[in-house]
Amino acid sequence: MRIPLIAGNWKMYKTNDEAAHTVRELDKLVKGLAGVHIAVCPPFTALAGVGRLLTELDSKIWLGAQNVYPEPEGAFTGEISPIMLSAAGVYYVIIGHSERREILKETDELIAEKLRAVLENNMVPILCIGETLEEREAGRAQGKVQDQLKKDLSLIDPEQIAGMVFAYEPIWAIGTGRTATPDDAQEMNSFIRQQLASVGGAEVADQARILYGGSVKPQNIKDIMKMEDVDGALVGGASLNAEEFSSIARYKE
Ligand code: 13P
Repeated sequence: MRIPLIAGNWKMYKTNDEAAHTVRELDKLVKGLAGVHIAVCPPFTALAGVGRLLTELDSKIWLGAQNVYPEPEGAFTGEISPIMLSAAGVYYVIIGHSERREILKETDELIAEKLRAVLENNMVPILCIGETLEEREAGRAQGKVQDQLKKDLSLIDPEQIAGMVFAYEPIWAIGTGRTATPDDAQEMNSFIRQQLASVGGAEVADQARILYGGSVKPQNIKDIMKMEDVDGALVGGASLNAEEFSSIARYKE
């Protein structure tokens, strides 16, 4: 039984005050909502503050980070360790977002290290994978995702896949208003589950949650969530507004 996850990736948006304001509003709007996990992933500067606020509000919302560095501490200027995240109350950690892969030139080798480090520190990675428009049009979407999975999962124990979250995020659907159709999402998510089964076995693959991300809005979430292998959504733009994000989380109503 996979509990759906609706996670908001705030990217590089919101000062501490803005983050606190949104979280207070969101918490009110989703109080009592059962059967779905909700997470917010603020920028690093707001993490600890949001973590304290969630505790103060006795909130059911989970805290997530958008990135991590795979060392416990040391001379890594500008980086944040898994221990620091965990101490700030972080539970989910987004790894390998396409913006980090493309803009910050993150390699699959580094992503594999990050995955291992997050799992070692008992947090839950949300591993993002997905193809560019060019790759999709050339019929290479599945090949790209297969290659990312193979490399990114190379350092972990296959059994650990069961506790992980994956997010299929086609790059052409991110921030473009162009959503993959529910059938496109289902096709790729089911392909991802097959790949996970080939690494860790069917039982492990059956437990892993696989999200869809890319222009998810209150208007399209219902149809996306009807798909068998879609276990939730990683939401960018629409997660910045508490009302919009809460109506995505309330997709069953
Ligand atoms: P949008 O929802 O803004 O398309 O962003 C998706 C995303 O990148 C979530 O990680």
